[in-house]
Amino acid sequence: TKVSKEFADAYKGDYAHFTLKEISEQPDIIFKSGENTKNAIKNAGNHIKNSNNIYITGSGTSYNAALIAKQILAKYAKIKVDTIISSELQFSSQIIEPESTLIAISQSGESADVLEAVNIAKKEKCKIISIVNSLTSSLARESDFIIGMNCGPEIGVAATKSFTSQIIIIYKLVEVICNGNFVIDYKEISNAISKILENHAQVRNIAKEIKEISDIYVLGRGVHYPIAIESALKLKELTYIHAEGIAGGELKHGPLALMDSNVFVIIINPKDSTYSDTLTSAREIKARGAKIIGISDEKSDVYDYWIEIPKTSELTYPISETIPIQLLSYYAAIEKDTDPDYPRNLAKSVTVK
Ligand code: AGP
Repeated sequence: TKVSKEFADAYKGDYAHFTLKEISEQPDIIFKSGENTKNAIKNAGNHIKNSNNIYITGSGTSYNAALIAKQILAKYAKIKVDTIISSELQFSSQIIEPESTLIAISQSGESADVLEAVNIAKKEKCKIISIVNSLTSSLARESDFIIGMNCGPEIGVAATKSFTSQIIIIYKLVEVICNGNFVIDYKEISNAISKILENHAQVRNIAKEIKEISDIYVLGRGVHYPIAIESALKLKELTYIHAEGIAGGELKHGPLALMDSNVFVIIINPKDSTYSDTLTSAREIKARGAKIIGISDEKSDVYDYWIEIPKTSELTYPISETIPIQLLSYYAAIEKDTDPDYPRNLAKSVTVK
């Protein structure tokens, strides 16, 4: 359902679309995320520390945030968690151990699949931690710990600021778990986003180049792989172009066969431990004639188009690199003359199974 014209006019202000407004709000979202539920973050973090089995669930973008959470919790908090796509839980052989913890991520808190996953976990007497934007949602009501994304209403069907907010909440949980040994520079993240958001003109030009093509691949390693999956989802929803996320090391195990002069590949390549392997992948792809869009803080001759992100600490990169792809997806929708706020066939919250 679309919102009323009165609401739209008041909410959008000078922005042409909700999606563009929501992308643009992200420098502030960094500071707001979780601020309304600080105690819940503390309590949930302490609960996670003492839990035996931890599962994280969600759908779509919220599931992609769960994939990031898994990597961050493992690397920095040394906590192993299992991720489960909410809609798969009922068919999954992945048994929920009784009295475990389920972290449910959902912007709306109304996704039927997520609620169903919570229901299954509650039957096993699991504790539920929700990371949710709407504190009055069905998911919030079912939860033992309610963590608010606090990113304001998200109207555009494509999740943008809520994804960033989910990552920030995950960082805040890890801060509690690591008790001072994990430090996030929120100002650095916010500044990096602001800097990237100055760059609309270049991204819009690239959008013109991709609008007619039929396949885009997004490649990343480590924590940048879930970002690649999320980026592909954004491109699909907003541009209707077939897009796929690829784990860099998997290239030679299949996807390399798809590379030719008809495709574009976005290489997510910040200067961290994944950098040199990912650059090698980019060269292998380029040799097959594909066009390369590099998202990196370091220029390379392998990129046909280089989208610069600021050089930062490593935990800023996952958020930084997401922003240009959100913008690219938005502008490609504009170039294709489709509605970025309401992509065809999709609803903002999927309340039926
Ligand atoms: C994201 O861009 C999608 N519109 C969709 O995948 C969404 O993230 C998913 O339906 C989950 O919604 P929720 O976070 O409200 O549960």
